[in-house]
Amino acid sequence: MYPRIIVLSLFLFAFLTTSCNNIKAENDTALRERTSINQGWKFFKYASKAQADDLFYDVRPEVVSTNDRKEADTPATEAEKLQTSKKALKPYILPMANAFIKDSTKHYKRPKGHPGKDFPFVQAHFDDSQWESVNLPHDWAIKGPFQEGADTEVGGGMGRLPSNGVAWYRRKIDITENDLNKSIYLDVEGAMSYAIVWLNGNLVGGWPYGYNSFRLDLTPYLNFDGENQLAIRLDNPNYSARWYPGGGLYRNVWLTKTNKVHVSHWGTTVSTSNVSKDSAKIDLEVKVENNSDSNSNISVLTKIYEFNNDQIQAHIATIDQKNISISAGGNRTIQGSATVVNPKLWGPPPSQTPYLYKAITSIRNEKGPIDQYETTFGIRDIKLDPDQGMIVNGKLIKIQGVNEHHDLGAIGAAFNMRAAERKLEILREMGVNAIRMAHNPPAPGFLDLTDKMGFLVMNEVFDSWERKKTPHDFHLIFPDWYEADTRAMVRRDKNHPSIIIWSYGNEVGEQYTGEDGAAIGKELSDIIKDEDPTRPTTSAMNWAKSDMPFPTVMDIISFNYQGEGIRQDPIFDNVTDRIKTKPQYEPYHKKFPNKVILSSETASAASSRGVYLFPVTDLISSPIRDGMGGDSKIQQVSAYELYAVDFGSSPDKVFASLDKHPYSAGEFVWTGFDYLGEPTPYYDSRSSYNGIIDLAGFPKNRYYLYQARWRPDLPMVHILPHWNWPQREGKITPVHVFTSGDEAELFLNGKSLGRKKKGEFEYRLRWDEVKYQPGELKVIAYKNGEKWDEKIVKTTEKPFKLTAKADRPAIKADGKDLSYITVQITDKNDLMVPTANNELEFSIEGPGEIIATDNGDPSDLTSFVSKKRNAFNGLALAIVRSKLEEKGTIKVTVKSNGLQKDIVTIKTQ
Ligand code: GAL
Repeated sequence: MYPRIIVLSLFLFAFLTTSCNNIKAENDTALRERTSINQGWKFFKYASKAQADDLFYDVRPEVVSTNDRKEADTPATEAEKLQTSKKALKPYILPMANAFIKDSTKHYKRPKGHPGKDFPFVQAHFDDSQWESVNLPHDWAIKGPFQEGADTEVGGGMGRLPSNGVAWYRRKIDITENDLNKSIYLDVEGAMSYAIVWLNGNLVGGWPYGYNSFRLDLTPYLNFDGENQLAIRLDNPNYSARWYPGGGLYRNVWLTKTNKVHVSHWGTTVSTSNVSKDSAKIDLEVKVENNSDSNSNISVLTKIYEFNNDQIQAHIATIDQKNISISAGGNRTIQGSATVVNPKLWGPPPSQTPYLYKAITSIRNEKGPIDQYETTFGIRDIKLDPDQGMIVNGKLIKIQGVNEHHDLGAIGAAFNMRAAERKLEILREMGVNAIRMAHNPPAPGFLDLTDKMGFLVMNEVFDSWERKKTPHDFHLIFPDWYEADTRAMVRRDKNHPSIIIWSYGNEVGEQYTGEDGAAIGKELSDIIKDEDPTRPTTSAMNWAKSDMPFPTVMDIISFNYQGEGIRQDPIFDNVTDRIKTKPQYEPYHKKFPNKVILSSETASAASSRGVYLFPVTDLISSPIRDGMGGDSKIQQVSAYELYAVDFGSSPDKVFASLDKHPYSAGEFVWTGFDYLGEPTPYYDSRSSYNGIIDLAGFPKNRYYLYQARWRPDLPMVHILPHWNWPQREGKITPVHVFTSGDEAELFLNGKSLGRKKKGEFEYRLRWDEVKYQPGELKVIAYKNGEKWDEKIVKTTEKPFKLTAKADRPAIKADGKDLSYITVQITDKNDLMVPTANNELEFSIEGPGEIIATDNGDPSDLTSFVSKKRNAFNGLALAIVRSKLEEKGTIKVTVKSNGLQKDIVTIKTQ
């Protein structure tokens, strides 16, 4: 027997220390308890797929070619026909989709029985004491090791980390006799992937797609007077993605307890209409279900409050009470509305403020309150103007967006609020106002942040449909799950004011299949509209043209790279087997004068922070080859920021294309941050080169090119390259300047190299004939003839000391909060040495741990959990996490041979 006392204390500990959101009735019995069960899991992963048990979801095609070095725009191909193994558990999981399949004749019937019920791992008495103890969110792959070389199991495309494999998570859950008449649910925000869940030996259900959230009803399988053993099996395929997916229970997991009559999962829908300064109409739908065996008479009442800084504030409106009866086992949807006077509108900064509201819905029966449900929302009015773009609350807001994958750099896929918030803060500082979720729904917490911080969001559900991009991607489950996964995304996320567009696909292979592909697109778009008629739909296109059926079914036209044109340079003249496209804004605008056009992906420019390669192209945009912006030996791309993947364009070229087509609603750059996997053009690396910001969160030069455009009122000027070139004396070393001004004068060692002005469709100032001599580069920028800003870059002396700085000197002692410590290698004069790659060693004392280190070098295969790491071009990063309930001072020391060490302190409170 599992010692009960330990189970209880473990739970109590978890309960005390993790967040819970329990709403109490007036008489203090819990109406609805939502308790984090992130703490206290046991984890086991099989050493290889061959050793794994056979409780699998379905068979998968064998992978013949393991080469993942494919260009991202390689067309998707047809799925392989496979025979389903009899033993597969798929028939037991498919009925989970029923709640999301509208046509009940298509519902799945669950076969009898509980496969796996005799398997040791699902038994309460199984001894898992030898398994690893983990807390969630947990990404089993991020600690590595990185797989190096050509013939690795996981290649560069998926980040060279061991995300593939079969693993189990086990945990007891605490159920008491008080729970007897309750409905009890397991809420999983994301499990990577093919989750199958057993409770007390019973197969409860599962969810294959790793990016959607799902709920399981545990009630029928609970022991109310004994132990309750959860066991979750995950089976993460290799070749499942074109990026790093992570592996494991990588988002929050909750236990939700409600009365039998309660608001359904994702059961409220708020929409706002007739929005003006003076008033707004709020419509609310509440779906209530009755899981009891008798009819129930209830009342439903909703009060609306202002909700800012996570605080419920003034009560400002009430949706009148409705009295209804719900039959046993049934559900009802109740509609109501209210008018808010002088609404505080949600809109993106800096010109608007993201005000939020909260609707609190109370359900009562004749005996008193039985449920209370909270819905956060915003009031905003968005209009699509095909000649201008998005009109948010009456004001044109051009999309200054970036694409983001779900990983959080060195901490991987495991979701962490602070890591996500830091990402958004760094992007905001650059001037970003919009995020495209590439290519899947994010953790729910991410959307809470975009609501709070005021980012516009394109939420996206799939990277592939029936046709495949990689052998084990979503195409394997699309035919069974497309409706469920599409509806699940919209139902979960529809109340977020930050979401402005739903995307039902990215560069899918069905662009190539004419009417058939368009028909699938229409079906997906219609499903979304059925769940949410208030927002436009789209699907990103890198190939479909204006005279094809594919774009006709979407509300918004989304280009990936087609706005600027694809592979139009002479270097591609003899290329015949790749996408080649002339700029597409005009033909599309002509064909679809009533549709907004935006660029869901632009640029795919590439660079390595602080790396400069010569000669420098004199074009404004160039593909990358050895000797032309790239160096395959060192696996780095030049940070002159003029180079892009073959189908992409430099930022400058994209800006010109947008400015020449002012009806474009704007762009989402590929990408804001570097991400794990897809290291085009050097697949021996671990992470991408496309980010404007490196994987560690350090801005590349491109950051300032975007900032100059997106924050025109911020006085700024930036010079590149650095000025430490002992081997280049007398050699041509171009100097480029990015500024929000319109003119600048450059000086080398006090001598003017001329004053230059940006011409039409020019976004950088370049002095391409500068001959290097050590000393000082100085630039003075002007705007409208007035001095605007200045910057100096000096040749430094040799590395002398380390300077460490925490982004936040005080963090919460909650076991989750993070402080990011940046280490600079500086010379005697405190100047960062831009070429210093010294090895650093971190150590820590006090109530915190170093959970990861990084330096932003895509080719660095040192494990992220290593305390030793080389700096990359002067910089390195350590990520420190607080410990639960341990307050005090954390002291982080960083040392390096021959350099003065530094110590940084962080308070936890
Ligand atoms: C696009 C694709 C993205 C990413 C990017 C890299 O074609 O949609 O997911 O692969 O290329 O340049």
